[in-house]
Amino acid sequence: MKTLQFANGDQMPALGLGTWKSEPGEVYTAVIEAIQVGYRHIDCAHIYGNEAEVGKAIAESIAAGTVTRDQLWITSKLWNDSHALEDVAPALDTTLTHLQLDYLDLYLIHWPVSFQKGEGFPLDADKLMSLEELPIATTWTAMESLVDQGKCRHIGVSNFSQAKVEALLQTARIKPEMNQVERHPYLQQPELLEFCQSNGVHVTAYSPLGSPDRPAGLKAEDEPVLLEDEAIATIAQRLNCSPAQVLISWAIHCGTAVIPKSVNPTRIAQNLAAAEVVLTAEDLKVIKGCDRARRYVDGSFWVVENGPYTLENLWDS
Ligand code: A2P
Repeated sequence: MKTLQFANGDQMPALGLGTWKSEPGEVYTAVIEAIQVGYRHIDCAHIYGNEAEVGKAIAESIAAGTVTRDQLWITSKLWNDSHALEDVAPALDTTLTHLQLDYLDLYLIHWPVSFQKGEGFPLDADKLMSLEELPIATTWTAMESLVDQGKCRHIGVSNFSQAKVEALLQTARIKPEMNQVERHPYLQQPELLEFCQSNGVHVTAYSPLGSPDRPAGLKAEDEPVLLEDEAIATIAQRLNCSPAQVLISWAIHCGTAVIPKSVNPTRIAQNLAAAEVVLTAEDLKVIKGCDRARRYVDGSFWVVENGPYTLENLWDS
């Protein structure tokens, strides 16, 4: 398995199991199965509402001797309602309790968006706080303290534009080492990737399969279906693998980590095997031509009437 190397020598397996949209009731078996077949990287978040089940599966896998804690790479994410200085450490403590762990390998600020404490997905402007009211730089100092205390080994961000990563790099005492963003052939973000990779910030690609199981409210009627893309299907046919495997392998070829979500044992195994799929230079060229700058997770859920967030200030575009 290819790994992403961190400055202190730590290595993150490039392929991890995504757990967004994995229902409680399904995710326990998915994580048990994934660890059993060889996954060593699990991507979690408080807001997914399933960390306790993920934690149970991790704890049982360790107890059964399938894996040791230090062979696993566990990532989680700080929710938007816990950006205030005093809320960051308790949020991580809750995640650690749910996951039954005493440290995380990586903890990310989930979105560059702030809410009042206790809010999950607010629709009212007065429940949202602007980044001027609660700056990322403030949240970041609390994230740095978590590293100082040994509660997480690495810290980073998610859904950050290049401008936001750049700003954070200027003020950070401990540099962000990861930016987890939506990335797949329809949303390649070459400038962001180049900027991050040349500034010591790894990239993890979320929704690498185009996130077909997103709730209907997050889907556009006319959206292109990545898993049915003709160019991807042609490459898959030639390599005798599935389109999903081409997409996962492509992400690894780009030097990113990638976290396909599945709760199906056959697809969990298939996705892991994608790490062995070798694409040619010609395949990479063809896939490069697939870019449509198409976001499936466009952040429009943070844009509420009279609220501080717009798609322009969210993505700095
Ligand atoms: P399932 O969990 O039933 O396997 P993303 O990682 O982009 O969010 O995509 C996740 C979606 O893709 C889920 O609906 C998941 O369904 C499906 N999926 C995961 N692996 C594969 C695969 N190898 N082939 C087809 N669909 C897949």
